[in-house]
Amino acid sequence: MYAQMVKTAGHGIKPRDRMTPQERAFQDRIDAGEKIEPKDWMPDEYRATLIRQIGQHAHSEIVGQLPEGNWITRAPTLERKAILLAKVQDEAGHGLYLYSACETLGVSRDELIAMLHAGKMKYSSIFNYPTLNWADIGAVGWLVDGAAIMNQVQLQKTSYGPYARAMVRICKEESFHQRQGFSIMMKMAAGTPAQKRMAQDALNRLWFPSLMMFGPPDKDSAHTAQSMAWKIKINTNDELRQRFVDQTVPQIDYLGLERPDPDLKWNPDKADGKGGFDYSDPDWAEFFAVLKGNGPCNTDRMKARVDAWEQGAWVRDGLSAHAAKRAARSAQQTAAQ
Ligand code: 3HC
Repeated sequence: MYAQMVKTAGHGIKPRDRMTPQERAFQDRIDAGEKIEPKDWMPDEYRATLIRQIGQHAHSEIVGQLPEGNWITRAPTLERKAILLAKVQDEAGHGLYLYSACETLGVSRDELIAMLHAGKMKYSSIFNYPTLNWADIGAVGWLVDGAAIMNQVQLQKTSYGPYARAMVRICKEESFHQRQGFSIMMKMAAGTPAQKRMAQDALNRLWFPSLMMFGPPDKDSAHTAQSMAWKIKINTNDELRQRFVDQTVPQIDYLGLERPDPDLKWNPDKADGKGGFDYSDPDWAEFFAVLKGNGPCNTDRMKARVDAWEQGAWVRDGLSAHAAKRAARSAQQTAAQ
């Protein structure tokens, strides 16, 4: 059932005059800034959009552990190892909060994971790029977590209560993640010429994939209009991408690195005279190819997840058997009282 629901209709907003009275009352609650809670009535499409977005978000947190987990044993110092270990552990926690938020919509974690493994759900495109050296771990924390927060701070105001509340804690942790990445970059950029070259190379390779994290340009975004009407999304993809660029370019300059795109130039006329940086578009053909499974690491990432799921079956079986025994014992004790 949910496999079909996860594929939501795209483009356009349902006009008010085509809404049922129940849908109109729902939209009025959203417009008044009320939070929607799990037992409240909601349109099927609203529920399906949330399952798609929160589920994809949860999968991204879990798959996102892979490129960094790969470097835990190779961190350059014990302190960096401990910090990275804590960060990767946080990401697992984020995945679990988000799977729990998604379960309040009537879909189980097992169903979500089965859909991911069957290729019926996505995870963030960024995790299909490799982390080749330690500087990449700095760039991932700085740029990838930085892009993630830019989006997620807004999601704290999303209309679905359990999702908005999960985002509050996630954002606090993500901001620590972004700083640990920047701290690695500061060290490398101020290090030997070879270390500085590594930092520059990591920035050059991860810049455009980070811009892709915000999704396709607004004109090609199937879901933005309806998701914003429902306050599932608070900003458009292009708005958040621009904010990320404006926040990050001064940080690149501070690090003493070269801007990874020659078009990154301040434009005082942007944003109704408030100004903003011009930038080149990422290669959108590459983005869509990655979404179709043809990025550099898609096959490895999915294999790692499916293997982990299959090899962990005995742990799940053991825990289920233990829980069943405890439930039976407690039922016996209640009956005896
Ligand atoms: N990666 C993979 N798929 C993407 C994508 C991306 N970067 N951006 C868009 N897409 C997909 C959409 O899921 C949609 O696919 P579908 O129609 O087959 O379901 C399609 O591309 C069209 O894009 P839209 O702009 O219409 O889609 P959305 O309205 O859902 O917007 C989004 C995309 C901005 C990513 C939105 O879903 C969102 O805000 N999601 C929540 C945040 C999230 O998932 N963040 C993950 C970041 S990684 C992370 O947090 C881990 C941390 O440790 C760094």
